[in-house]
Amino acid sequence: MDEFASFNAQLNRPIDAKNVEFQRMGRLKHIINAAQLTPELLQTLCRTADSIRRLAKTRRGNEALKSLLADKRAMLYFTQPSTRTFLSFMAACQILGLTCNEVRDPKTSSEVKRESRTDSIRMFSSYFDIIIMRSQIKDFAECCAYLMNRLEEQEKRSVPVINAGSGSDEHPTQALLDYYTIDRSFDFDEHSHSVESRLPALRATYPDLVPGVEHKTYAFCGDIGRGRTVRSLARVLAQFPGVSLFFVSADHPDLMLDDQLRQKLKRAGANVQEFHSLEADVNGRPLIEQIDCLYMTRIQREHNSESTEEELKQLDLSPFRLTLDRVHRMKEYAPILHPFPRDSVIDEIPIEVDNDPRAMYFRQARNGMWIRAALLVHLFDAADRLHEADSAAR
Ligand code: NCD
Repeated sequence: MDEFASFNAQLNRPIDAKNVEFQRMGRLKHIINAAQLTPELLQTLCRTADSIRRLAKTRRGNEALKSLLADKRAMLYFTQPSTRTFLSFMAACQILGLTCNEVRDPKTSSEVKRESRTDSIRMFSSYFDIIIMRSQIKDFAECCAYLMNRLEEQEKRSVPVINAGSGSDEHPTQALLDYYTIDRSFDFDEHSHSVESRLPALRATYPDLVPGVEHKTYAFCGDIGRGRTVRSLARVLAQFPGVSLFFVSADHPDLMLDDQLRQKLKRAGANVQEFHSLEADVNGRPLIEQIDCLYMTRIQREHNSESTEEELKQLDLSPFRLTLDRVHRMKEYAPILHPFPRDSVIDEIPIEVDNDPRAMYFRQARNGMWIRAALLVHLFDAADRLHEADSAAR
């Protein structure tokens, strides 16, 4: 990516050094990678999302939400296919009164006239107050954040950048919504006023069960090597104490956990283990019966080379498919997540599973809208005004 050559030195630094530049006075300036999602920030964003969904239940609350960022405009620059991420960001903008515009097909923009991507981005920043972007190019969003920082240093107009998926590398806002879904699942309705906590009853069967994301075993199944949602969420979860991360994939180098990520997760303190079946033996019992949360993924065929395509055709994928029998053997409270889309041919989660109360993937998608709205509130520093509106409405 020649036009970004001037950012190479910045790209090649340790992540902590980079992330200092993506924040300002304890708040995010850009969101580029999952390492920015610290436990404190996650907690703040989840509480903000809770306030937004509470306000959205009433007409008055909705009016308050709609006026919150009504003076802002967002550019959705999505040059890679997207349904949920695009629509949930758009819905999040609409909830908060932001006006949105979109470029999805670079053929309709001046890139066909050989405009550089950097010029396109700078133009977007002239008209809009935030750029939400998805690209198949790994470091593109990160380079855009550096470009904005450079403009800011020159006292020129600069806006926040949100990475909504970059190559097979990172998808931090998906990790955010996955975390939000897991956090709510492991709340066991403890903080809900209308429902009684399920925890005492569950403890009769699972005496060691504690609320929260800590002290849990998470299994990721499917395309571990190329699933950017797996990479981002695993890094977020590895920050919490007592977390085990089980990676379940076919024995193929493209699908398995890569060494770099394995090392990062271990360094963060997680117990990392790898398996080749949902039925693999873990201390004398099948894995599927012992995990606290299952994160299913699709085989990312768009990244296949011709030879990989042929090799994958020969693989038996049944050990990585979630059958109803497997669901019935899971722990009663263990949520099943999937970033979606699911593959309707490989059928990693058959539709029969959808009615099981553990199936969270549709709720997960809706959670994406609330938590992405919370992220926008955070980036525009509107949390105080939001919480004022929330208290006034109660
Ligand atoms: C994921 C993505 O684009 O990385 N989808 C999403 O954002 N919900 C997962 C996928 O495409 O498999």
